[in-house]
Amino acid sequence: MDKLRLGVNIDHVATVRNARGGNVPDPVRAALIAQDAGADGITAHLREDRRHIIDSDIDGLMEALRVPLNFEMAATDEMQAIALRHKPHAVCLVPEKREERTTEGGLDVVANDNALAAFIEPLRGAGARVSMFVAADKAQLDASARIGAPVVELHAGAYADAWAEGDWATRDDELAKITDMVAYGASIGLEVHVGHGLTYDSVGPIAALPQVAELNIGHFIIGEAIFRGLGPAIAEMRRCMDEARNGG
Ligand code: PXP
Repeated sequence: MDKLRLGVNIDHVATVRNARGGNVPDPVRAALIAQDAGADGITAHLREDRRHIIDSDIDGLMEALRVPLNFEMAATDEMQAIALRHKPHAVCLVPEKREERTTEGGLDVVANDNALAAFIEPLRGAGARVSMFVAADKAQLDASARIGAPVVELHAGAYADAWAEGDWATRDDELAKITDMVAYGASIGLEVHVGHGLTYDSVGPIAALPQVAELNIGHFIIGEAIFRGLGPAIAEMRRCMDEARNGG
């Protein structure tokens, strides 16, 4: 089984910085600590409203990182131009609404397949691994494969919320959907990632799915870093993932 990669999302280091303005805490410094603590990649979402990550963070990450950057963005012309200028290792397309607190749903690749096919072509031409952040839904996976996206990231939000609420029936239903769609995605040739809302408790059943190539985890790790420090918070996530992958 291939090693499961951990992408650490550092958006919320920028959230704390922006709460006061100024330069601290620095997301690039956090990314370098994450890299040293065993992150296989760094994920950052440059939102249209720049509420957390800002353009200069992306400049700094591209300059400083040794591990790959997964650049999350909405499918807009502005973001496409930024991605083409930086040529990050990976680009993850996410839906974006100004009024949401976080990325609430998956991208509708089915309804926008022609536009997205044209949108990702130059990104792929620039060498980026393009992924679609979608619900664990067969039609969305089929559409992603059809437009030539090599990677999908399945939205784990409903699964994670059910964990947080102690709603075990919903958790098990959501896990069953993710389990089926991870296997289905791999069977049609997609590389499958999973992300959103994962914690030390909820990561195990997802990490145990053999076809999952990468997990992207941010908010929980950054929160846990307040108590343990960032390096130890990441090391514990890595331990939880490895334990689950190796059969507990
Ligand atoms: N993956 C994607 C595509 C996301 O949009 C997010 C949230 O920005 C994450 C992973 C990480 O989610 P969380 O911060 O809840 O761990």
